[in-house]
Amino acid sequence: MQRRLLDLLICPRCLPAEKPLRAALREVRAGEVVEATLTCPKCRTDYPVSDGLATLLPAGATEDHYNSSDRLAGYLWSHYADLEGDPDAHRAFPAWGELFAGADGPVLDAGCAVGRLAFELARQAELVIGIDRAAGFARAARTLARNGRLGFELISEGELYESRTARLPDEVPRERVEFLVADALALPFPAGLFGTTASLNLLDRVPLPRLHLAELDRVGRKAGATLLLADPWSWAAGPAQPEEWLGGCRSGQGAGFGRDNVRRLLERLGRPPWRLADNGRISWTIRHHRNHFELIHSDYLLARR
Ligand SMILES: C[S@@+](CC[C@H](N)C(=O)[O-])C[C@H]1O[C@@H](n2cnc3c(N)ncnc32)[C@H](O)[C@@H]1O
Repeated sequence: MQRRLLDLLICPRCLPAEKPLRAALREVRAGEVVEATLTCPKCRTDYPVSDGLATLLPAGATEDHYNSSDRLAGYLWSHYADLEGDPDAHRAFPAWGELFAGADGPVLDAGCAVGRLAFELARQAELVIGIDRAAGFARAARTLARNGRLGFELISEGELYESRTARLPDEVPRERVEFLVADALALPFPAGLFGTTASLNLLDRVPLPRLHLAELDRVGRKAGATLLLADPWSWAAGPAQPEEWLGGCRSGQGAGFGRDNVRRLLERLGRPPWRLADNGRISWTIRHHRNHFELIHSDYLLARR
């Protein structure tokens, strides 16, 4: 973890109180914290930094189903195959990146997976932090930040695999990007830190979608801030109980479409309120194997305040 982040992190367990963490550094190399323990002075929780990767999960958070090698390979394909000229690749990340033109840093990408959006945004902001609850994803993204490339084995068919490489173009300023293991429902950052926040395809995956919106609202700057929220609204009982959904219900807080409800929530409940600057739809694909792809349309809401 880059040393400059030490001054920014707070205890996710003590929220809404914002308690800065104390660092006991064991190994620091070229501005990078390699081994350390970050401790909350109030609740005494220890958060490890191990092999450069900081884990700042609140109590009770568990590893999730994204931590499998086939899933990891699938996401590496989805995020980076366009850069390799794969004819089946989608072009959603450059399209999402363009929506942020003129947006200010620092930038937070919540649920960053293997990091592509964070690298797109590093073209214009000096500090971009990607957080994900899946340690395997955050580790892969950190490897890309350090080495610019990462090899992986992608399913071709059945038990057959092909070797692929995710590779970042040389001009991407990788040193501006950092990845942490953290929970989008208890962000380890103080209020108002970020000029830009992004949450792509995460809202329908968390148990408390409204809390995720409240956390994005909390860490976004009070003025001169941009927020991009994109989601396909694939509400399902696995990630969240139907009474927590923000769309797709016949009655209750989730009555109607997620796109309309989330826009209303941002406009009415934001402190201060957000104003819709743009909206639309961007499509992307997940690859299951070389002849099987899943097409997903994500509505996006670009809001400012
Ligand atoms: C559907 S994927 C989207 C990933 C990426 N934003 C994209 O659009 O390709 C959802 C991501 O959110 C992560 N995630 C799920 N729940 C999370 C949580 N509570 N906090 C942080 N990340 C979470 C998953 O590990 C996964 O990487």
